[in-house]
Amino acid sequence: MKIAVLSEAAPDERRVSATAETVKKFVQLGASVAVEAGAGRSASVADADYAAAGATLGSRAEALADADVVLAVQGPAPDSLTGIKPGAWLVAGLNPFGERARVDGYAALGIEALAMEWMPRITRAQSMDILSSQSNLAGYKAVIDAAAAYGRAFPMMMTAAGTVSAARVFVMGVGVAGLQAIATARRLGAQVSATDVRSATKEQIQSLGAKPIFVENVAGIEGEGSGGYATEMSPEYQKAQAELVSSHLARQDVVITTALIPGKPAPRLISDAQLATMRPGSVVVDLAVEQGGNVEGAVAGEVVERHGVRILGHRNVPSRLAADASALFARNLYNFLSAYWDKDAGRPVLPDEDEVTQGIRLTRAGAVVHPRLLQA
Ligand code: NAI
Repeated sequence: MKIAVLSEAAPDERRVSATAETVKKFVQLGASVAVEAGAGRSASVADADYAAAGATLGSRAEALADADVVLAVQGPAPDSLTGIKPGAWLVAGLNPFGERARVDGYAALGIEALAMEWMPRITRAQSMDILSSQSNLAGYKAVIDAAAAYGRAFPMMMTAAGTVSAARVFVMGVGVAGLQAIATARRLGAQVSATDVRSATKEQIQSLGAKPIFVENVAGIEGEGSGGYATEMSPEYQKAQAELVSSHLARQDVVITTALIPGKPAPRLISDAQLATMRPGSVVVDLAVEQGGNVEGAVAGEVVERHGVRILGHRNVPSRLAADASALFARNLYNFLSAYWDKDAGRPVLPDEDEVTQGIRLTRAGAVVHPRLLQA
């Protein structure tokens, strides 16, 4: 049973899919681990750390040769997997809709592509959930980035020279990233408010000491679809939300948007006209920028200024905290593989009838097999 750990090819990707800690645990399970030399460098894991944990280091071809399981953060280009064994598993965040051609390429290679972001949101799979582990860090980093770009302080300070007022921070979208953004902004001393379409989040917002801003008495208030995710809201709801948010936005200093709807472009929450009502010097962080953006004018990978308001559109925010993001991502992969480890076979085995298998398995035996991809 051989596990390969690949270097990431995507620009700005600093994370790695295994750490010395998870390598050691795989070795304890009886696997051999081959790491592509330099794979952990940008995440502060040295080749020597991997070697000390029991891995061998070598070229990509050496790592891939005869590997049974290949680990990566993002799905590699199929033509960079030359030499991979048919039947091998590729375990990574594969962006199945966005990178559909790659999924077809994995099928053509005869490998089993397992998309970790499609892990079902069930209790037993929580420790395997890369979306949660990475979103949590993204929510934290969004606030830190905003605080760095904001030309004023976050906490209220009473000094001999006068009082500095607390920053007002508004979080739009209170999933995993939004909750961490609220908690982080509160720790920095900001006055925090937040909104979501799922009414269940109201209590969560309050329990973190922030003020909920919610549309009331409009059809479609529930907003909760399957698996705890949001659904698209009615036009009446969207209009009421825009009005409510408009009056609130004009009084905010920092806005963090995180709103996503599975399988759909990110909902537009802030228009250019609304940005124009904000105080010059305000900062907006659009964490949904790579899924189409919550903020009009946000550009992926750029910081743009509109009406004196800076809009931060950093790509791949978890990668900006590469060491911690890698540690959590690597544990998600380990927790998944070890949960399915068959001691007799000496390798992980995925039962066909299992909810996790059905959620994440994209390709098998030369074909694309996932219903969501076959329907699309
Ligand atoms: P997400 O990243 O898909 O979306 C972020 C947030 O945006 C969500 O809270 C969503 O309701 C909100 N949103 C969507 N449209 C909006 C709009 N028009 N206006 C304002 N907000 C909008 O969500 P995430 O972070 O992946 O979490 C979704 C849910 O799944 C949460 O309830 C979370 O607690 C739950 N969850 C459950 C897990 C488990 O049981 N294993 C693991 C992780 C999350």
